[in-house]
Amino acid sequence: MKQSISVIGLGYVGLPLALTFSQNGYRVVGIDVDIQKIRLIMSGKSYLTDINDNTIKSEADSGRFTATDDYSAIAETDVIIICVPTPLDEQHAPDLSYLVNAGTMIKQHIRSGHLIILESSTYPGTTKEVLKPLFDQEGLEAGKDYYLGYSPERIDPGNRQYSFKEIPKIISGVTEACAQKIYELYKTIFDHVVPVSSSEVAELAKLLENSYRFVNISFINEFAILCDQLKIDVWEVIEAAGTKPYGFSKFFPGPGVGGHCIPVDPLYLQWKAKKIGSGSVFIEASAAVNNRMPAYIVSQVKAHLPASLSKDARILVVGAAYKNDIHDVRESASLALMKLLSQEGFRLNYHDPYVTQITLDGFKYRSVDLTEEYLQNTDCVIIATGHSQLPIESIINHATFVFDTRNLTKGLSGKAKIIRLGGGS
Ligand SMILES: NC(=O)c1ccc[n+]([C@@H]2O[C@H](COP(=O)([O-])OP(=O)(O)OC[C@H]3O[C@@H](n4cnc5c(N)ncnc54)[C@H](O)[C@@H]3O)[C@@H](O)[C@H]2O)c1
Repeated sequence: MKQSISVIGLGYVGLPLALTFSQNGYRVVGIDVDIQKIRLIMSGKSYLTDINDNTIKSEADSGRFTATDDYSAIAETDVIIICVPTPLDEQHAPDLSYLVNAGTMIKQHIRSGHLIILESSTYPGTTKEVLKPLFDQEGLEAGKDYYLGYSPERIDPGNRQYSFKEIPKIISGVTEACAQKIYELYKTIFDHVVPVSSSEVAELAKLLENSYRFVNISFINEFAILCDQLKIDVWEVIEAAGTKPYGFSKFFPGPGVGGHCIPVDPLYLQWKAKKIGSGSVFIEASAAVNNRMPAYIVSQVKAHLPASLSKDARILVVGAAYKNDIHDVRESASLALMKLLSQEGFRLNYHDPYVTQITLDGFKYRSVDLTEEYLQNTDCVIIATGHSQLPIESIINHATFVFDTRNLTKGLSGKAKIIRLGGGS
């Protein structure tokens, strides 16, 4: 008989993982402290753009998938997968309070033979130094009484190119026996399982992947500014360089980085590096470059607005989510851009097909409709997120000035004056 699974934390990572196990015939209990999410799931409603209501309904109707806020449910399952948030605290240090809370609840219901897998992104050493001691306190031995390991989640919300099971899955255990148990389970779900020699390697691999993106995005952002100064189009340069079949990967400029991973994970690495008396100059420099992108965009918008308008122009920011085709606004660079525009005194509004409402500096904004009339009455439209369903033709034909940070207007022309970030104008 197949093992039964508890998934702790039903967010962007946990809910798709729980449903994937359920779709593969496992009995799954999702556990979350957010009672609102439990209610939505139990009424067959999805709160993620990548998951439709029918998927939740059919797994719940099959009797395999259920959700609760009651941790005692884990005693009835064989495997516990932890997908809780790992954000930064106010000092920009790792905030593992969600993980410690989850581990503390798990240890109250742990039983012999339980397999516990951490999926949340974190610094090397967390599984052994933070999670394992919680179970050690109960007098339990990993690899004998229970099994513990780390497997970083690599889901990319909004990405339709790779299905969940096609993304190779790194796995590790705190002992050989632990790694073996995870391997046997995950090979039934994922096409490629990649075992590594320790939980620290798996933890650090995840931080390397996201720090690599962080550093490269910051470099291309700095490069875009340089291209503006050189009066050369960065987008054409990237396309040209991208024809090299080896040794070059394309990254694209924008208002900065966002989400729960790219702006956060490198700081977990930096924190760990500083703990051992070291540090990464690349991470420090990258954070500085990315953080100044909103100010650069505002300065460019001001430079291209008619002088009579620059003080209190009506600006519409298109896109609040941190990346295309999702509704996640966590750490979104669009929000940083909007805050700055509002602080500068511009009359600000936004449109996002996925985000109906945001709060900035205590003020609530509702997404406005992109009607012809609205576009005509706006002095500048800033495209901040490259959602694929945006009506670009209508924007460039009805607005007067479009500042495009995502190259969505590539090859297009219309009534509007169009300036692209890094476009060399
Ligand atoms: N979002 C992504 O694209 C992505 C990709 C790869 C890895 N990750 C990592 O996965 C982890 C989870 O990220 P996410 O985006 O799914 O976060 P999320 O905020 O969308 O979901 C986390 C869920 O955990 C719940 N939760 C918090 N504390 C809990 C507790 N003690 N017990 C039970 N539930 C609890 C929250 O209510 C929430 O529903 C993070 O470490 C993140 O860095 C995220």
